[in-house]
Formats: sequence, C-alpha cells, structure tokens
Amino acid sequence: MFDNWNDLENSIQNCQKCKLCKTRNNIVFGVGNKEADLMFIGEGPGADEDAQGEPFVGKAGKLMDMAFMALGIKRKEVYIANIVKCRPPFNRNPEPDEEKACLDYLRNQVILVKPKIIVLLGSVALKNILGSEYGITASRGKWIEKRGILYMPTWHPAALLRDETKKIDFIKDLKLVIEKKELLAP
Ligand code: URA
Ligand code: SF4
Repeated sequence: MFDNWNDLENSIQNCQKCKLCKTRNNIVFGVGNKEADLMFIGEGPGADEDAQGEPFVGKAGKLMDMAFMALGIKRKEVYIANIVKCRPPFNRNPEPDEEKACLDYLRNQVILVKPKIIVLLGSVALKNILGSEYGITASRGKWIEKRGILYMPTWHPAALLRDETKKIDFIKDLKLVIEKKELLAP
C-alpha cells in the first residue's frame, strides 16, 4: 500500500502481475478528481479504453456520460476506475486470478480518494468489492454500508446498450446517489 498517488502510479507502470499484461496496449489506471466524494467502479477496459488509456471512453462510456449530463454529474468531479486495469482479450470477463492480482491497486485508490459513496457498475464490480454472495439483480438500487463507505450497486452501462428498460433503473439509482451526496456534503 502506498500513502501517495505518485508512488502508487509508479508502482503500476509495466505491471506484469497477471497474464493480461501480455495483450494490453495501455494500462487504464483511473481518472478524475482524486479527492472526490463520489467514485465509480467498473469492470475492466474495452478496446477504446485500452487504446486511449482512459476508463469509459467507448460506447458504454458515452452512454454513462449522457446519464451524467442529464443528472448534472461532471466527469471531472468524480473518480472513475475499474476492477482490472488491463483489457481482457475479446472483452471477456476478468478471470479470478486476474481480479485477485489487480485488486490491491483499486483498494489503494479507494484509500487515497476516500470517497463517501461508491457506485458499483455491474456484477464484476459488486462481487469483487462486496463479496461473491451479492447478485446485481437483487442488489441494485439499494444502499449497502461497509466500513464507513456507502455503496450503490447498479447496472453496468454496457447492459443498458442491450436492454433499454435498464436505462430507467440506472437513472433512478444515480438519482439516489445525487440526493445522498447532497445530503452528506451540501
Ligand atoms: N467497461 C468497463 O467496465 N470499464 C471501462 O472502462 C469501459 C467499459
Ligand atoms: Fe497488472 Fe492489473 Fe494489468 Fe494484471 S490487470 S497486469 S495486475 S495492472
């Protein structure tokens, strides 16, 4: 664990702790306000993210940006990161050994950001952060408090591309997040 961003960012340069290092083009570390009250955690980079080194810049990211805009969330005011920092080939889910190898980076990011609220985007984020006993369908839209942080699980933005009705849930869940954030830090 590192107590500052410089050391943490340096430690991930050229990381080869798991097999995803062999196929990545860029490590996608995370982006945004390093002192944000609100943090978003996704799954892992896709092709666009792997090419640009930034999370949620592809199709799913564009959809998330549209939801952000509608709700008045500014991308640069929040912090956004993923469970794994390198793209799984063909956008498959990360495998358990990859998640395990990478998760310490994310834990360290959470410790440094100190968010009040974390939005867990989809099942991979939910299970890795809160435990494999949680399911996204049952958990989404409900607050879960653990160790002083409020978690809001919701659909992964890519799921909204496949199922229109999930967009309504997604907006509803993010509205709860905005309301809570304003309550915590008016
Ligand atoms: N999907 C994710 O989970 N993360 C990204 O950064 C992009 C797409
Ligand atoms: Fe390292 Fe994480 Fe990339 Fe694996 S996914 S190589 S652990 S940065």
